[in-house]
Amino acid sequence: MNTKIKYLGMELNSPIIAGSCGLTASIDNLCKLEECGAGAVVLKSIFEEQIIYDIKRNTHIHAPVGNYGDSYEYIAQHVADDSVSKYFSLIKEAKSKLKIPIIGSINCFSHENWITYAKQFQDSGCDALELNMAIMPFDTSLSADDVERTFSNIIQSLRKSISIPISIKVGSYFTDLAKFMQQLSWSGIQGITMFNKSLQVDIDIDEEALRNADSLTHPGEIYNTIRWTAILSKKLRCDLCATTGVSNAHDVVKLLLAGATAVQIASCLYRNGIEYVKELNAGLQAWMGQKGYENIDQFRGKLALKQSDKASMLMRTQFMNYFADIK
Ligand SMILES: Cc1cc2nc3c(=O)[nH]c(=O)nc-3n(C[C@H](O)[C@H](O)[C@H](O)COP(=O)(O)O)c2cc1C
Repeated sequence: MNTKIKYLGMELNSPIIAGSCGLTASIDNLCKLEECGAGAVVLKSIFEEQIIYDIKRNTHIHAPVGNYGDSYEYIAQHVADDSVSKYFSLIKEAKSKLKIPIIGSINCFSHENWITYAKQFQDSGCDALELNMAIMPFDTSLSADDVERTFSNIIQSLRKSISIPISIKVGSYFTDLAKFMQQLSWSGIQGITMFNKSLQVDIDIDEEALRNADSLTHPGEIYNTIRWTAILSKKLRCDLCATTGVSNAHDVVKLLLAGATAVQIASCLYRNGIEYVKELNAGLQAWMGQKGYENIDQFRGKLALKQSDKASMLMRTQFMNYFADIK
């Protein structure tokens, strides 16, 4: 049975990609992920502040830090001086030891000087770059247009600097999510990864203080990913990599049926270990065997909305149908 796919123009043996997380930050784990059958790996993200810090420390280039506020100070105090060069070394080592594609990841929110460094990611051997665009509409002075303009500015600047495929990892906080994802897919990028999960916040009621909530996703979170994958997969002009909430092989099948080109996983690797990739691949193959599918193209997108479908009407009908049935 053939589980090969094409993602960002690259051939992958499996649609299951290890998403960017702490587990993709060491060479041992990357090798293990390949051994267990991951189709590709996205390295742990580096922050644009780390890159700016590095530029300022190592060159005479004027890199303004005013935009970064406290986050720059945090980086300057807490991040090892050579974090960027270590990142490039990891890419080089991974390229020398692994056959599967290595996707670099940058967590960014502006098109400042960090983009001048992007070429070094390419020169280090990255097969593609995923931008984790951590732009949340937290700021009351920012309009939807401002937020969306930042995305296009970053993409346009980056496209001028590198020639490897670019994928944009987005969250789901957009007023015009469907329209904006389609516009992004027309902007010359090769892929969109939906959805990134922002850091969740909790409150400790004994200490009366804000706390970070559990960073792992829960199985029910897959439904939002399934919905938007099914709505958008046939309406985008680039690949769609679905992520958030995959906890077993059936979830992988569901996202492929909804039209995902590939699927990224993180939390289930933390919960079950890297070896779990084997189980996911075996489960995908078992389902394909049971259904008589020989390759992924035979069923991928079977349950996606058609290009001409009006999602809002279909969703409303489904909603009415559901509530009419509840007694
Ligand atoms: C511990 C942890 C660290 C993560 N670090 C990153 C990161 O550095 N960059 C990034 O783009 N996503 C990061 N993510 C998000 C994952 O790549 C993924 O998008 C998200 O967890 C949803 O997928 P999942 O449901 O399979 O966990 C992290 C997730 C976890 C759980």
